[in-house]
Parts: sequence; structure tokens; C-alpha cells
Amino acid sequence: MPLAEENPLLRDPPLILPVVIIGNGPSGICLSYMLSGYRPYLSPEALHPNRILHSKLEEARHLSIPEQDLEYLSEGLEGRSSNPVAVLFDTLLHPNADFGYDYPSVLQWKLEQEHYIPHIVLGKGPPGGAWHDMEGSILTLSLGDWMELPGLKFKDWVMGKRRNIKSDRATPAEVASYYKHYVKVMGIQRNFIDHTYITSVVRPYREPDDSVSHDCEDVSCEETPIDKEKKAVPKKNWKVHGYRRAADGSHQAFCLFAESLVLATGTFDAPARLEVHGEHLSYVSHSIAEFEEAVGKGRLSGEVDPVLIVGAGLTAADAVLCAHNNNIPVIHAFRRRLNDPSLIFKQLPIKLYPEYHKVYHMMCTQVSSAASNLYPTYKSYPEHFVLSFKPDMKCVLQSTSGLKKILKISMALVLIGSHPNLFFLKEQGRSLGHHHNQPISCKGNPVEIDPYTYESCKEPNLFALGPLVGDNFIRFLKGGALAITRCLELKQNKTRHQIVESGSDDRVS
Ligand SMILES: *[C@@H]1O[C@H](CO)[C@@H](O)[C@H](O)[C@H]1NC(C)=O
Repeated sequence: MPLAEENPLLRDPPLILPVVIIGNGPSGICLSYMLSGYRPYLSPEALHPNRILHSKLEEARHLSIPEQDLEYLSEGLEGRSSNPVAVLFDTLLHPNADFGYDYPSVLQWKLEQEHYIPHIVLGKGPPGGAWHDMEGSILTLSLGDWMELPGLKFKDWVMGKRRNIKSDRATPAEVASYYKHYVKVMGIQRNFIDHTYITSVVRPYREPDDSVSHDCEDVSCEETPIDKEKKAVPKKNWKVHGYRRAADGSHQAFCLFAESLVLATGTFDAPARLEVHGEHLSYVSHSIAEFEEAVGKGRLSGEVDPVLIVGAGLTAADAVLCAHNNNIPVIHAFRRRLNDPSLIFKQLPIKLYPEYHKVYHMMCTQVSSAASNLYPTYKSYPEHFVLSFKPDMKCVLQSTSGLKKILKISMALVLIGSHPNLFFLKEQGRSLGHHHNQPISCKGNPVEIDPYTYESCKEPNLFALGPLVGDNFIRFLKGGALAITRCLELKQNKTRHQIVESGSDDRVS
């Protein structure tokens, strides 16, 4: 069985890895790239438009960016992420992108094997994560080159693939295929183990005199409550349980230990719910794919009651377009005001996203009654929320001013975003967020981290990046990879230093 021998998951005794990354989407890929020894330097001929930043970079141009003081470099920068290192790395890769400039990156990448930090990336599907599951036809939100990872121009890659490039935007299928290709050409594929499902991640406790046991069968230590008298202390390493699905469909359980654990799972896993009465009823769906299937099967053709679409994001807009193109009547309810500046439509250039601006136009024209028969099958309810769903397919809406309406519908689609799924952590990781004991979410309750290391404020040697720390755009998740790479290397340097000082070298690596 060569596969089992090669597979680091099936070692006995279990492997202890310096770093385990959970999630093989863009966050996990970008971190693996940097941990593999790819290092960014200020390129010799580059001139960053921000003079102050440029002179800071000049001061230490012999050092790679992860070897520099990230707090010093990111001081005074402003951008659309609340994480300073994310803003820093973004401006180095895409200088002044927010002002519409197309400056080239000021960085050049060098592969330096001596900086390799052993790690594995575990993911449910092929590298690219959730991008492989998204609807193939929907055009993606960001500009193509904002989806790209360091060292491989998305545009160059896509040009070689497409016959004609009309759009500056990419489809999810193209993005997914780019990520898969990226992992191959960068030579980092050996760090990736796909078709793996994580079932639990714990930091077991042990008593001070307990000899270090790395036996996965030894579950008793994990259940030992923290006993103050015995001074049980958390073991240093994380214990990761999961299984891998083989090509023949069989499941192989595994267990391994990690000195540092990185959460890179993204937030596409679990759709957000309204948490209202009747939401479990069979005509209420939280998936646009279910709606498209119903449309495809003709279940909503002819004279039907309207479909209720809840939400004002792009997925809700996609559903509105789908209904509109198929002559299905729509009731569109959303909480926000039409002139709310944080509405996503206000942030998309009209030229690039005409169809989303059409939806926004529909949402607005319904309110001024003069134009209300422009879209006879569409009705907009801004500043309305769902009070409940009734078993007889009626839904109760309430306006923010308190007015109630009861409407008969044929289907309800709740498309109000999604939450990360951290079920493998104790209490789903609730203790890690800014707000205690609430589910982790990208906008409302991201994982609380040190802004310059991305290490959890609550759990040492636990890191998170990407949407889990509030960075929804791929543009910004690279900053997390930079900060984590620096922090892990500093930790490694510290351990090496200690080993040299104590004259012993018993570290497992
Ligand atoms: C870690 O140590 C090496 C060798 O001393 C050094 O070159 C490198 O800059 C250190 N890394 C960081 C992040 O300081």
C-alpha cells in the first residue's frame, strides 16, 4: 500500500507537525506559499507612490518583508481592511489600487529554501476551497487580478485559457482552476492533502508529571477536567482528528499533532439564518442553488405566487436576476435603506457590473410609484424584515416603522450571507471572538487576533486569517499570511536559540 506509506496522516505514532493549516482556499494556499520559503523583497527598480512607506522600505531593502517590523511599516496606512498588515501588503502588491491606479507591485519574490517551515494544508476538496463549489455562471465580485495570489499574474494565466477576453471579471470556475494550477506551478502541492475532513481539534490537558504522550488512542487525558489541585496544564500541541475520503469512497480516520494550528476555513460553510418563527418550513430555502434547481425543473412557471427574496447582497441580487429572467414574480425584502452607503451596489463600478446596477435600479424604482410598472413582476420592500413564516405559505413582513404586511408566496429565499463552520472546535470557537459566546462571523464577530501576528488573543499557537478575521476580499487575506509567516519564523528562531543555549537538540520536527 504505497499510498498509506506516503500519507503523513497515517503514521504511527502520529506525526507532530510544526504547522497544520485547516482550509485549502486562497488563505491556506497563500500561507503555504510563504511557509515554503517564497520571500518578498522590495524590487530594485520599484518606487512606491507613498513616499514615507518607500523610504521605510529603502532602509531595510536587504531584508525580506517578513523579516521587518510590520507595525512600523504599516503605521499611518489607510485602506478598506481594518487589519493594518492586510492594508500594508495590499499596497505593496497593488499600490493605490483604491484610487483606480494600476501600478505594478513593488515586490519581487525569491525562493529561499532555508526559510521553509514544515506544514500541511488540509482541505475538503481540491486546492481552491469553496471556489470549486460556487455556481459556475455567476461572475465574481472582485476584479480578476484582485483574486490573484503572489507570483502568478491572474490576467496572464487567464489569457492563455480564454479564447476571447471581453470581461475584466472572472468566473468562479476560472478562479478555482487558477488556484489549483497555482499550487502546482509553485511546487507547493506536496504540502496539500485534499479530501480531508476535520472532526475535532483539541488541546489536551495533562498533569505536570505526565510523560509526553503522543498516543492518539489515549483519549482519557483529553477528558481530564482542569483540576487546579493537580495543576493540570494544557499540553503544548494541538491534537487534530479527522478522516480522509479515498477514491473508492472509503473513509480513513487519522490523528496528528500540531505545534501551531492555523484556521483558514473561510465563511462559506453555513448560511446565515433569520432566526424567525417558521424558518424551518419546507418552502423556506437558504440556498440559491435550490432556487435555480426549482426554476430549472419548471416548478415556478406559469401563474405562481411571488417568490420572496430576503437580503441586499450579491447572492440576493443573483436570485432577483434569475427570477426576472424567468418571469417569476418577486417580492424583495431587505432591512437597509436604499441610500445606505454600505450597500454593496454602491461600491461596484457601474461599467463593470451593469447587471447588479440594474438590480439596484429595480430596488429603487419601486419606491417612486411613477416608475413602478417598469418591472411589473418585481416588488421592492426596503427597510422591511421578516417577522415569521406561516405553514400556509404566508409570510409576515414588518417595516422599520412598524407596519405589518401578510403576503402569500410560493417560495422564500433567505440570502443574507453565511457563517464560518468551526464545529470541530470546542463550542464552535465561540470563545475566540471579540464578543464572547457568540458565533464567529466575518463582519459582526471575527476571531480576535493580535493585529501584527494574527495569533489568537485567547489561545496561544492558534492563528486565523481571511474571512475569519474580517477580511472577506482575497486582496486582504495575504496580509494574514505575511504576519503568520513572520510570527512562526520568530517562534522557530526562538526555539533554535533555546536549543543552542541549553546544548540539547531533542526537538521533534
Ligand atoms: C530568523 O533567524 C535567521 C537566522 O538567524 C534570520 O536570518 C532571520 O531574519 C530570522 N527571522 C526573523 C523573522 O527575524
